Amino acid sequence: MPMATHMRKMKKKVIKKFKALNKIQLRSLCANKFKMIIVFTCIVVALLAVLMCFIFPVSDVTYFWNWSVINVKETHFPRDFLWGTATAAHQVEGDNDKNQWFTFENGGFTNSDKNIANYERSGIACNHYNLYREDISMMKKDLGVNSYRFSIEWSRIEPSKGNYDMNAVQHYHDVIDELLKNDIKPLVTLHHFTEPQWFADLGGFEHFENIEHFVKFSEFVFRAYSKKVEIWCTINEPNVYIVEGYISGSFPPAKHSIVTALKVTTVMCEAHVRVYRALKKISEELNVKSQIGLVLQLSQVDPQNRYNPIDRICTFAAEKISVGLYLDFFSKGSMYVPFLVNYANTDAVGANDFFGVNYYRNDFFGMTLDIPPIKSVKDYKNREYNDMDWEIYPEGIYRAIELVNKTLPGLPIIVTENGLADAKDAKRAKFFDRYLYAVNKAIQDGCPVKGYMAWSLMDNFEWASGFYPRFGLYKMNYKTMKRTLRSGAKPFIETIKKWKVENNIKD
Ligand code: FCB
Repeated sequence: MPMATHMRKMKKKVIKKFKALNKIQLRSLCANKFKMIIVFTCIVVALLAVLMCFIFPVSDVTYFWNWSVINVKETHFPRDFLWGTATAAHQVEGDNDKNQWFTFENGGFTNSDKNIANYERSGIACNHYNLYREDISMMKKDLGVNSYRFSIEWSRIEPSKGNYDMNAVQHYHDVIDELLKNDIKPLVTLHHFTEPQWFADLGGFEHFENIEHFVKFSEFVFRAYSKKVEIWCTINEPNVYIVEGYISGSFPPAKHSIVTALKVTTVMCEAHVRVYRALKKISEELNVKSQIGLVLQLSQVDPQNRYNPIDRICTFAAEKISVGLYLDFFSKGSMYVPFLVNYANTDAVGANDFFGVNYYRNDFFGMTLDIPPIKSVKDYKNREYNDMDWEIYPEGIYRAIELVNKTLPGLPIIVTENGLADAKDAKRAKFFDRYLYAVNKAIQDGCPVKGYMAWSLMDNFEWASGFYPRFGLYKMNYKTMKRTLRSGAKPFIETIKKWKVENNIKD
């Protein structure tokens, strides 16, 4: 029988059967069909979700350790470990009035007096510029540390383009000499969020042609101090500088542009590479040892709901912009986001003698109705948060270290910042114990962590949040400038003591 005739007969049969159905039978048939559509839709969504997981992989190492069975005191750090605290010039020195943050605090970039919480200004901050001797003596006597990470304020050294202030140069010589006198190794950061206003006026890191100014400043500083300083951090957290300065707009230059943010990402990464190469050349010329590295903020990001494709896409995008691009660039020599970034420089591979890991928090990403639509959301019960609502998640520092070690295998890692804002000092001790345990575990598991810098020596000016966040091992009385050691610093001090005993290190 020809095919067409066969089909016609079949159709007639179906119609006949359908007409013969009574109402009840018809209803049940429809219900079955409805069920089938639901089942079919579920299968399609599930398949899409699985597909999304492949297209948008997110971290699948969400550790949650059972702290009740862990002995956090069971740590063994290597003999040559660096123990220190960290600060940044603008946050502690006081009277920095030639950089773009001063402008921002005073309403620049936005024409608003609300750039800083509670209308505060960094002002005299902790007056560390004048009180550094006392501060170094506290580090030595109370904390027993063997290193200190601080930044050299570019706008003090080069207040106007090409003009160097030799008094400022002498000041940092004095700081470094004081540290060395106390057997404290200086770790110097060249750019910690601030830059001279003249550099910002040129468009800062928005333009490749401005990199040369940063290279010149870095070379100048390196020539001045490299006989006394071995460890150099080029740029502190370009990812935070960019996300806050160019996406959320809460840091200067207070812009909101993903396109500019991604351009600045390429310029800052390129700046790091050029500074690295330039300083390595000078190291050879001056015959000095140097270890030079970038410092990145390695907050861990997870989807709110791991099985929700939208949350996965948001997390994937957030991770890519804030961390992935940098790790790609320094491991493969290129970074790529379709239609947005395509930048390569093979010189980037090997342009770090160590990698600086700053770690504070864990963020959950998911779809919200906010603009931008990607927002970190705290939606987990029984988790602890610091005074800034950052989730405290010590397992995350292990993940951050593990991620760097996986991407840049064997490259020495220094935890260049870690701590928590805790004005009541109620959580600090518990979390230092846990953070230090997690860092030690990373070492035991094969990650080459060479040092740990607690953030921060004392409470200080926390950028757009002003003075309310209290990160200090020392509590600051901003009226009297008195520093008081917090009891929450105890685990940090005790761990250093234990390490000294184990390694027979005398004070
Ligand atoms: C980091 C910054 C540091 C300090 C801490 C709390 O992102 O590098 O200056 O503000 O956060």
